[in-house]
Amino acid sequence: MDLDLAALDRNARYKLLSALIVPRPIALVTTLGPEGVVNAAPYSFFNLFSQDPALVVLGIERREGPVQKDTGRNIEATGELVVNLVDEDLAEQMNICAIDFPPEVSEIAIAGLCLAPSRVVRPPRIAQAPAALECRRFVTLLPGGGRELVVAEILAVHVGDGLVDPTTLKIDLERFRPVGRLFGNLYCRTRERFELRRKNYQEWLAERGEGEAEGERSKVGASTFTLR
Ligand SMILES: Cc1cc2nc3c(=O)[nH]c(=O)nc-3n(C[C@H](O)[C@H](O)[C@H](O)COP(=O)(O)O)c2cc1C
Repeated sequence: MDLDLAALDRNARYKLLSALIVPRPIALVTTLGPEGVVNAAPYSFFNLFSQDPALVVLGIERREGPVQKDTGRNIEATGELVVNLVDEDLAEQMNICAIDFPPEVSEIAIAGLCLAPSRVVRPPRIAQAPAALECRRFVTLLPGGGRELVVAEILAVHVGDGLVDPTTLKIDLERFRPVGRLFGNLYCRTRERFELRRKNYQEWLAERGEGEAEGERSKVGASTFTLR
């Protein structure tokens, strides 16, 4: 079935695309309001886009009116945000933070969250989050339709105790349990995993037996092999 995106209105596009492009990680974003109120809200139009510079992108919709969401307004005014990652333990609190509280109300106490100071930006991080990324706005794109695409640079990273090996930087997947957003009220856990070993071209040739033709020796069909 072919679907004509141009014929779909904004809501239909959201319904279709946000259910197809899944799972999405969830950024529980903390920002500072004009009076110093700490705002927290989840955003799943979010991902990592590069490591040097380390850039994440957030897609922030306007409310009806159109009225800017608190997160968008605070980032515009201060240029700073913390992306707190969401795991299974934080999912319920994250959902409370999605309620459209007015700007002067902080979601933090209502959701039972605790704050910890950030190292390089002013908005604090959420102490319960498995990891927090201190970010500064890099650029904001306004592609139309009231959406803001905030590209932000990660300046500092905090990872919960025991989740990362400080020498190898390997994350302990038994302890790190991020959740993903599916569509609407549906979420997924990330506990079921499988491994696909990535090959380079020489390995791929060798497995097909073509490495020999190029003067390379290979052990075809085995799960491990040597190229000489
Ligand atoms: C899991 C989840 C993901 C969400 N992702 C987005 C998103 O990517 N963009 C958006 O505009 N709103 C998103 N929302 C809705 C906002 O969190 C909601 O509008 C919130 O009230 C915004 O708060 P703020 O005004 O304090 O920024 C999401 C809600 C949930 C529960």
